[in-house]
Amino acid sequence: MQFTTRTDSIRDLATDCLIIGVAMGQAFEGDLADINEAGGGLLQRLDIDGELPRKAGKTLMLHAPAGLTASRLLVVGLGKPEKLDGIAFVKAVQAAGKALRQSRARNAHCLLAEATVTDRGADWKIRQAALALAHADYVYDATKKPGEDAAPATATVSFPEAPGVTEQLALASALGAGIGRARGLGDLPPNLCTPVFLADVAQSLAKEIDGLEAEVLDERQMAELNMGALLAVGQGSANPPRLIRLRWRGGAEGEAPLAMVGKGVTFDTGGISLKPRELMEQMKFDMCGAAATIGAMEAVARLKLPINVDGVVAAVENMPDGKAYRPGDVITAMNGKTIEVHNTDAEGRMILADAIYWTGQNSQPKMMVDIATLTGACVVALGHHASGVMTQDDELAGELLAAGDRAADRAWRLPLWDDYQEQIETPFADMKNIGGMPAGSITAGCFLSRFADGQRWAHIDIAGSAWRWGKPESATGRPVGMLVEWLIGHAGGWDALGA
Ligand code: BES
Ligand code: MN
Ligand code: ZN
Repeated sequence: MQFTTRTDSIRDLATDCLIIGVAMGQAFEGDLADINEAGGGLLQRLDIDGELPRKAGKTLMLHAPAGLTASRLLVVGLGKPEKLDGIAFVKAVQAAGKALRQSRARNAHCLLAEATVTDRGADWKIRQAALALAHADYVYDATKKPGEDAAPATATVSFPEAPGVTEQLALASALGAGIGRARGLGDLPPNLCTPVFLADVAQSLAKEIDGLEAEVLDERQMAELNMGALLAVGQGSANPPRLIRLRWRGGAEGEAPLAMVGKGVTFDTGGISLKPRELMEQMKFDMCGAAATIGAMEAVARLKLPINVDGVVAAVENMPDGKAYRPGDVITAMNGKTIEVHNTDAEGRMILADAIYWTGQNSQPKMMVDIATLTGACVVALGHHASGVMTQDDELAGELLAAGDRAADRAWRLPLWDDYQEQIETPFADMKNIGGMPAGSITAGCFLSRFADGQRWAHIDIAGSAWRWGKPESATGRPVGMLVEWLIGHAGGWDALGA
């Protein structure tokens, strides 16, 4: 989806679809008055008949609206003005995007950013409107071409010309490319999206984008580094593991980078602790932390952020096999700590253990976050609306939660108190890889904390937020929005970029 600006007057603007929003109780002023007048009281008549959608997220598509040169008029309800905050705004624009996607319109002109949003400014509204429309336009087509009668994608959306709008649309495009990347990778089937495939994606991105660099370690190199925990998970699969690092050096030479480490389990059968057959196919999404890391790195590079950033991906497949690691095994991780395996399905923390430690040693980051579809318990705790943040670093937690809020990609903090650490103790090793039923997300975080020694680190569990259940089910591209917002915060903020 391309974005442009236009200066044409609303009445004689040639477009396939003019998109407007109406809040509850909102009078027809400005553009709305103009549209209403051109149509001989069109909006008023709809309102009187009770068919003007003012409720949040309701839409109405009108064809050949009287008095306008637009072929369609799409009206979107914005709900109660006092409830129209950033999150509600994004939802409303996504509803508009969905209606637009289902129509045969190929281009549109969007007036939704003119809505008054309680807690956001003009630049934010433009960026998020563009992102939400692009999000709604996404259709999976990697392994299935849409039928001939399928509605077409929207090629171009324009916004009214105003100071700064062009710049904000360019920023949204760059960020949207990263979110779309994460989503597309998350949706791919596990027979195509293997660890080697993820490494190839990283390398081709590095080739495509100036200044982005990729390096890939194979299992031999990882063995030399004693990455016993990561290799243990991968050893049952015919698809060999890879450790991938993307680097962006937009900041001062030698300045410590911010680092992201993504869980890239391209398929999680559970291994010898095999998962039940129901819904096992969903475990192709277990590389969404990796997808978010790659997507965020793409956005960082396309935005040319003036900071240094490293994105590390631990990519493996977790399979049951004669060579697979087993419950009872004691594994030595790269940092020398020993792990007794109690459940081979707790594989994400195993691979992240080595990836986090390696990143700490090798990237020597200022701060580091890991992103992982780590625990079913996180879905139970937070559902699909929030990612879970765990860290003992209050300042970093604050940064991440605030970034999630600004990006309308929210997270919520769970405690990582030392009290939980005893749940992963065992007589046979330095730790075991599960902590039992209570606080399953937190004990996973406790496990990871033991490999982030001396680092400023936070763990982000995206088991609930990375995937949209329901119809059509799809990867969400989350939490690329939150991650990039966090990084932009360290790069002086959006204002510094748009200038
Ligand atoms: N990838 C899963 C986490 C998951 C499960 C996400 C279900 C979304 C839905 C992870 O590798 C896993 O299997 N975790 C186990 C941990 C348990 C064995 C301690 C889980 O959550 O059941
Ligand atoms: Mn698992
Ligand atoms: Zn997993």
